[in-house]
Amino acid sequence: MSTIILGIESSCDDTSAAVIKDGLLLSNVIASQKVHEEYGGVVPELASRAHQQNIVPVVDTAIRRAGISPSDISAIAFTRGPGLLGSLLVGTSFAKGMAIGLGCRIVDVNHLHGHVLSHFIRNTVTDRVPEFPYLCLLISGGNSQIILVNSPRDMQVLGQTIDDAAGEAFDKCAKVMGLPYPGGPHIDRLSQEGDPKRFKFAKPHIPELDYSFSGLKTSFLYTLRDNVKADPDFIENNKADLAASLQATIIAILLDKLDKAVKITGVKTVAIGGGVSANSGVRAAVADYCASHNLAAFIPERAFTTDNAAMVAIAGYFKYLDGDFCAMDAAPYARVSV
Ligand code: KG4
Repeated sequence: MSTIILGIESSCDDTSAAVIKDGLLLSNVIASQKVHEEYGGVVPELASRAHQQNIVPVVDTAIRRAGISPSDISAIAFTRGPGLLGSLLVGTSFAKGMAIGLGCRIVDVNHLHGHVLSHFIRNTVTDRVPEFPYLCLLISGGNSQIILVNSPRDMQVLGQTIDDAAGEAFDKCAKVMGLPYPGGPHIDRLSQEGDPKRFKFAKPHIPELDYSFSGLKTSFLYTLRDNVKADPDFIENNKADLAASLQATIIAILLDKLDKAVKITGVKTVAIGGGVSANSGVRAAVADYCASHNLAAFIPERAFTTDNAAMVAIAGYFKYLDGDFCAMDAAPYARVSV
């Protein structure tokens, strides 16, 4: 008998549902919330309400596109955390209610495990997947971590940010340049036409495999402040070079620790995940690094870099195979580590 997992993701501002059958993706539907754009960041209260409006049509569409009947579902996997509590409550409660209605089990998923395991989302059985152990550079708006993945259920954080995440560095620097939220994609776009060597920004001197991005943010801010004093149009006239230099610095910081982790662990496979892994410069730099170091590189499809239920479904599938189900009184958690 086939194993069919319905995945539900509602940790932040994307409502998503996906269906996988025996590990293969049948559908992945994402409703992104536009309501936050005018506020320069995600407004939790509005996110919860939008999830409430989106969840039924999104799940319904995912099931229809998968061509299955709800009664075929073996288990419902849902994101239990980390994330915004109000948003998580919508997905958690929905998963429980639907599971009770269908008489199936629920599986709780750590959202971070979803990003790390997103490389196992396959459309066909011939799609390549990483071999264990592999290193995953998890870079998003809330995390910057280097994770040693020994198996789908055994992960070890080797290093992480001690202050801002890489995505925050992109977003906060973009904000002082007057770019809309989230700024990461705008920096990416502007970088294509800029000179990455034009400006020098501070790089951290943090021991071991940990990251820090707050010094870079300050250094970026001071560069703008000092130059704008002399030329009020400085930002407007140097947008592309500022973006390219910022992006190049973030990439250099990320790659420096990744290289150390590769040398320490001796692993032969490197993966990236999380929203910042959509960045074209990061993708190219990691691919080049892996090619020149004879490592297998796993760069996710762009659709699987941001929040999506396909990664929740695949992480849930691994737990399902282990018979690791979740109790019906499980509450979501806003904070949880890998
Ligand atoms: O994983 P994610 O969707 O969710 C959170 O952790 O919140 O990551 C969102 C982050 C944001 O900081 C956003 O600016 C960044 O991913 N991001 C990018 C790009 N696309 C998304 N950063 C740089 N370049 C991009 N193309």
